[in-house]
Amino acid sequence: MTGDVERARELIGRAERILVLTGAGVSAESGVPTFRGDGGLWRSYRPEALATPEAFARDPRLVWEWYAWRRSCLAECRPNPAHVALARLALRHPGTSLVTQNVDGLHHQAADAVVRPEEVADPAYPLELHGALHRDRCSRCGRRTPARYDVDAGSPESLPRCEECGALLRPDVVWFGEALAPEVIAAAFEAARSADVGLVVGTSAVVHPAAAIPEAVIRSGGVLVEVNPETTTLTASAVVSLPGAAGSVLPEIL
Ligand code: OAD
Repeated sequence: MTGDVERARELIGRAERILVLTGAGVSAESGVPTFRGDGGLWRSYRPEALATPEAFARDPRLVWEWYAWRRSCLAECRPNPAHVALARLALRHPGTSLVTQNVDGLHHQAADAVVRPEEVADPAYPLELHGALHRDRCSRCGRRTPARYDVDAGSPESLPRCEECGALLRPDVVWFGEALAPEVIAAAFEAARSADVGLVVGTSAVVHPAAAIPEAVIRSGGVLVEVNPETTTLTASAVVSLPGAAGSVLPEIL
């Protein structure tokens, strides 16, 4: 692993453009559960009952109950050394684009924490492919508002509603069967195509289109560095694969 750490440092150190793609594993050490694998959310819950537009139309109370629970868990979580190392990389290396599948807001919190008082964290950091749990969106007019942390999911009547049009609010996350925001996905692929190095951290890389982003790096002549304690579909195509926890490996290679 020491040789691999050196190689990863070297590749990242001389790259002009770096594409970072993160998944649930980058937040595991902050206490946020992953989706697959041991203790993963999709081991205990059925995505089609909780994370689809059909589920929301059928039983918005149940869907809200689940997201209110996830918000309450997240309220206890803080960025870990992996989020901080990535935020510092982006600050000192402007050719870095960070794309995340996570909705937990921890990359953003880490960026706010590392900027100097006279600076403002880049509002486009990170590119959030699957939306954000710290925002709500009107299910009819699409108006976005900061998340409500006091959602009463006790009955359909108590669910939060849009102040403009009165329709039900929903968490501003992308559900299965929904399209990703076109401008976000376009920016992510654009960054992938121009990257010398793709640093892929803590994702099983099975959910598309996010899973195709590292492939775009390779097709355009870049190389992949992967940080993941488990083998994934990307491991064989990575020039360096670091099988450790993001919170230890990233501060070491960045
Ligand atoms: P997964 O739960 O599928 O994968 C998490 C990955 O993180 C696994 O490969 C683990 O081995 C790895 N991992 C665990 N602990 C780690 C650590 N400390 N450091 C580094 N890696 C670690 O999560 P995602 O790939 O992010 O989508 O899942 C992708 C999408 O599937 C999610 O965004 C979500 C889900 O359904 C939507 O909700 C739309």
